[in-house]
Amino acid sequence: MNKSTRKLWRDRGNRMALLAALALAMLVASCGGGSGDAADEVILIKFPHVTAPATPKGQAAERFKELVEQRLAGRVVVEVYPSSQLMSDDDSLDALAFGEIQMIAVSLSKLDRLTHRFQVFDLPFLFPDLVTVERFQASADGSVLLDSMVEKGLKGLTYWHNGMKQFGGPVPMRSPQDADGLKFRIMESDVLEAQVLQIGGNPQKMAFGEVYQALQTGAVDAQENTWSNIYSSKFYEVQDYLTETNHGYLGYLVAVNPNFWNGLPDDVRGELNNIVQEVADWGNAQSSQINQEGKARIIESGPSELVSLTADELAEWQRVMRPVWDQFEEGIGAELIEAALLARQ
Ligand code: LMR
Repeated sequence: MNKSTRKLWRDRGNRMALLAALALAMLVASCGGGSGDAADEVILIKFPHVTAPATPKGQAAERFKELVEQRLAGRVVVEVYPSSQLMSDDDSLDALAFGEIQMIAVSLSKLDRLTHRFQVFDLPFLFPDLVTVERFQASADGSVLLDSMVEKGLKGLTYWHNGMKQFGGPVPMRSPQDADGLKFRIMESDVLEAQVLQIGGNPQKMAFGEVYQALQTGAVDAQENTWSNIYSSKFYEVQDYLTETNHGYLGYLVAVNPNFWNGLPDDVRGELNNIVQEVADWGNAQSSQINQEGKARIIESGPSELVSLTADELAEWQRVMRPVWDQFEEGIGAELIEAALLARQ
């Protein structure tokens, strides 16, 4: 898809027409568009993502490539492009739908433009930790979400964790009032926008690859991200204070182009699916540790100061952000929020 088609796609008015064209292309392919020699062709999986190789997602992507090229040697090749080398997440959603790339692992927050259901993952302080998130993702409600965007060109295979998010800024943010008036970089999510407005900040949606420079030049003052992203993308070098809030979850939907997926030989599709799930178990088991290492290295390195909150201070952040749940409940579905709450027990 060229730049002008991407521009058309972003315009909501044109998206319906492009979706119809996409659906037609998928139908034609499913009616036998493949050649007789397809079984002999090496299958290429282009897998771009935006974080550094040393992050939970970077490591999982490399592990996926390694296992695929071991177990499907000569049949499947995986090209991983980390650190926004190939494209931004926003562009990767378009590129996947149009079959330019075959696999993505985008932050759940960025699915906002395709469905409101995934906004559940962005509700502040809904998930206290990764164990709760994992229980919810494995539940019937969590699993059903994987297939909720197939007609939009995206089939979810599984979830991969990064970790819990922290705030960083030019002042020590002990209370939400300290965030008043600060410009916050956020991911492309309306929930995160509402969350920042709730604490008196000025939210700016921005691609991950632009954040370091925006913080450095003062285009934005503050940001929220996981320890591993703050460390590996060096945000801590351009942030005076980092407040440990664990206020939200950052995880990924590992997704494929449905047309590509359905067109694979059964045995290849089955093995790829096994590997994706195996990598989820492997990666999720070490994501907390990678984040804790990132935090420790940030503290060792020095340029930013860690702000730890008391239980009362944390409760104040929770109180101030809580109205965001009510704003988005209708779009998400009250029953989905209920299912997430159940996972806490
Ligand atoms: C972000 O944009 O902050 C995140 O989506 C980066 C990531 O972890 O993919």
